[in-house]
Amino acid sequence: MERVRTCIPGMDEIMGGGIPKRQLSLITGTSGTGKTTFCCQFMHDGIKRFNESGVYLSFEEQSDSIKENTKEFGWDFDALEKTGRFSFIRYDPYHIEDVFDILESNIREIKATRVVVDSISALGLHVRDEAELRKMIFDLSMVLRKLNCTSVMVSEIVPGTTGLSRYGVEEFVADSVIVLYYERMQSTFSRAIQVWKVRGSPHSEKLHPYSITKKGITVYPEEEAFIKR
Ligand SMILES: Nc1ncnc2c1ncn2[C@@H]1O[C@H](COP(=O)(O)OP(=O)(O)OP(=O)(O)O)[C@@H](O)[C@H]1O
Ligand SMILES: [Mg+2]
Repeated sequence: MERVRTCIPGMDEIMGGGIPKRQLSLITGTSGTGKTTFCCQFMHDGIKRFNESGVYLSFEEQSDSIKENTKEFGWDFDALEKTGRFSFIRYDPYHIEDVFDILESNIREIKATRVVVDSISALGLHVRDEAELRKMIFDLSMVLRKLNCTSVMVSEIVPGTTGLSRYGVEEFVADSVIVLYYERMQSTFSRAIQVWKVRGSPHSEKLHPYSITKKGITVYPEEEAFIKR
């Protein structure tokens, strides 16, 4: 299986050598675990270090704030956009049914090899009918496969539930699943990451600690995390 470097220190080691090339991965976890940071690092550093091109589709209300917030990590997405190798898609909430056509044309235009869709939960705010939404998630996975992109889709773990995703289908359409945890241990919170599955490949079966610092996310493949689960 061909792999793509995530550009997140320690991450490729626990994935079994990197993120599977031209496949769809899901990153999931509760709110504030670092899903957007993970995706931005994968996108920014992937484009910069490996001369790739990428498209970031955000359904978050304040999509410009993603660019602002990630400046803290030293990532300049505006500068990347000017090179023509990156495009940030602002969706139109009144024409949500067209969003995947727009995604497809953006991917084709810049010949994107990395794609992020952040997040399926936020997409759900605009598509009320759950059956329709599940079909959209499936259609999205088909578009990304057809275009041969290495893609990361974000969903969320709903606190108090046992599911891995918001709508319960995301983990099935994805070839790989990465879960981020942020759990209380006595008086402090700990961060832990787990590779839940990688279709057709071995991977770490342990929970590993990760940190978010001004350099972005770092995973510690040699260490084991202990959280209440
Ligand atoms: N510059 C920074 N240095 C250290 N930690 C940071 C920095 N910026 C953000 N963080 C940490 O990252 C967390 C948020 O990360 P992020 O927005 O990627 O999470 P998310 O999982 O996408 O959240 P949401 O579910 O709200 O979309 C913050 O709560 C904070 O703990
Ligand atoms: Mg986010």
